[in-house]
Amino acid sequence: MTNQSKDPALKLVNVTVRLGGDYILKDVNLEISHGETLVIIGPSGSGKTVLLKTMAGIYKPEKGHVYCEGEDWQNLKSNEKIKLARKIGMQFQKSALFDSLDAFENVAFPLREHTKMTEAEIELKVKECLSSVGLLDAIHLMPYELSGGMQQRLGIARSLALNPEIIFYDDPTAGLDPINTDTLLELIAQLKSHFHSTIIMVTHSLNCAYKMADRIVLVGNKQVVLAGSVEETQKSTHPLVRQFVAGELEGPLKWD
Ligand SMILES: Nc1ncnc2c1ncn2[C@@H]1O[C@H](COP(=O)(O)OP(=O)(O)O)[C@@H](O)[C@H]1O
Ligand SMILES: [Mg+2]
Repeated sequence: MTNQSKDPALKLVNVTVRLGGDYILKDVNLEISHGETLVIIGPSGSGKTVLLKTMAGIYKPEKGHVYCEGEDWQNLKSNEKIKLARKIGMQFQKSALFDSLDAFENVAFPLREHTKMTEAEIELKVKECLSSVGLLDAIHLMPYELSGGMQQRLGIARSLALNPEIIFYDDPTAGLDPINTDTLLELIAQLKSHFHSTIIMVTHSLNCAYKMADRIVLVGNKQVVLAGSVEETQKSTHPLVRQFVAGELEGPLKWD
């Protein structure tokens, strides 16, 4: 699904987020275009997940505005919020599958919640999603019967169910071996070119960032630093970016 509107897919204007009394992000400004793949890197505990959830309208900024497809999350009534949220797919850390539901029901869940599709339409859509991630054979398996890589792919199948325009991935390759990591990244890239979606992906791995990103941002010391393209990131003279890329403990960037 493509969006022809002139608004950026996402726009953050002077966004400050405070959780449990602590400032997590301060004065973040960022714009993401339709069809772009933005990768978020940074030390653990730096606020990558918080940034992702703020973009998705889950966390409210204390100050500033988050526009999704031109709409300010904070100004929306709850029915409008639900409508906007339908344009978004999310795969959170550890894939957050429903342990008591099989693969079919995991993917069917958002369809049952958010659409009035008939059972036959749901079955067709679920099979399409599972087949796009190579899991059609696992349709009646429970999450615990799947390998780590398969669980991540099932999470992706579920995030695709509502044909999202923007997909958020929170460290999708965490805990995967190198082969499964490459397979999963390849799959995300294929699905993106098929659905023309905008992708915002958090990763702890610079390699993943370099493989996937149109642009890279670094979260650290409560700031969000736009490092630019892969090449610009590698050549960046910004002290936080330089330290992270070099993987050095000593420097201005605070590690957990
Ligand atoms: N709901 C919350 N309430 C209070 N503090 C939170 C909440 N979610 C995250 N934090 C804190 O925000 C900081 C950033 O967390 P997070 O975004 O999860 O880091 P990461 O970069 O590893 O994804 C951490 O110090 C974490 O403890
Ligand atoms: Mg996180």
